Amino acid sequence: MTKTLTIRRPDDWHLHLRDGDMLRAVLPHTSRHFARAIIMPNLVPPVVTAADARGYRDRIMAALPEGDDFTPLMTLYLTEDTDPADVAAAHAEGLVTAVKLYPAGATTNSASGVSNFANVAKVLEKMAEIGLPLCTHGEVTDHSVDIFDREAVFIDRILGPMRRDHPDLRVVMEHITTSNAVDYVRANDKNLAATITTHHLVINRNHILAGGIKPHYYCLPVAKREEHRLALRAAATSGDARFFLGTDSAPHTDANKLLPCGCAGCFTALNTMSILAEVFEQDGALDTLEAFTSRNGAAYYGLPVNESTLTLTRTAPTHPAQIHTSEGPVTVFDPAIPLHWSA
Ligand code: NCD
Ligand code: ZN
Repeated sequence: MTKTLTIRRPDDWHLHLRDGDMLRAVLPHTSRHFARAIIMPNLVPPVVTAADARGYRDRIMAALPEGDDFTPLMTLYLTEDTDPADVAAAHAEGLVTAVKLYPAGATTNSASGVSNFANVAKVLEKMAEIGLPLCTHGEVTDHSVDIFDREAVFIDRILGPMRRDHPDLRVVMEHITTSNAVDYVRANDKNLAATITTHHLVINRNHILAGGIKPHYYCLPVAKREEHRLALRAAATSGDARFFLGTDSAPHTDANKLLPCGCAGCFTALNTMSILAEVFEQDGALDTLEAFTSRNGAAYYGLPVNESTLTLTRTAPTHPAQIHTSEGPVTVFDPAIPLHWSA
């Protein structure tokens, strides 16, 4: 008999859907498996105000395939001009689920992010008061800091002081990539959680750089040494409620990836659940897959778990190598391991 695994329908706590034709091309690959997703606001121009978020949410709902049951959980892009009252109003009407902090220049479309953290203190104070979580892109942008150290330095220089100044602020460290981040979350059990991507559970920096440069494995934060990947695997499969899935599925066309200065991001929405089942099975942890994908995130965000379910079958999946969009092909993340589970 074929082995099956039925779990509560998963949520994706960090997702890039883009806009326009790209949105229409990628959204069905998320809404097929996921009930909800935290939608990243790094459009051009970014989703800064409640009005921006309302418009973007409506465009996502209009792009949703008929019959799919999917709720986009909107975020606001924190700038030094963000108005605390606008954020509070957006939260009060149920429009936004979190605010996203990008240090200025840290990643794709982050130019409007924060340079001087003193200028966002009032917003953070308001968010702490109303219980609205802050999602952090946890990398410093200081060019004197080695790119492989930028997450660890962010924890010391930015996150630690920020959490001391705003102890009631609920923080989600997004797409963590180091054992430093895992240890920091484990050592702090109040108002702190972290998302982990699918790709950081299967690749280390050799995948990007050994045997030729592989732009499709280039994402931010960049994958680190193997020991860090193993720490992420241990955290994800542990069942610890502070760790949950945020795919950071970040589609770019091949034309934009395969350049002398190519874009960062892996498109994982399509095969994430197959890859995760493989990872959790390899680690003898299929019993904690549901916690990671479908329970821990909802609990941290104070939302109910999904009532519907997703069934995984132990049969080799067939995933396309690319999806086609009007802007050109987007390559699907290749986990570089054989997959045995279909969602
Ligand atoms: C993201 C993107 O392309 O928007 N890229 C990435 O490598 N993850 C931005 C981000 O989340 O850093
Ligand atoms: Zn992202």
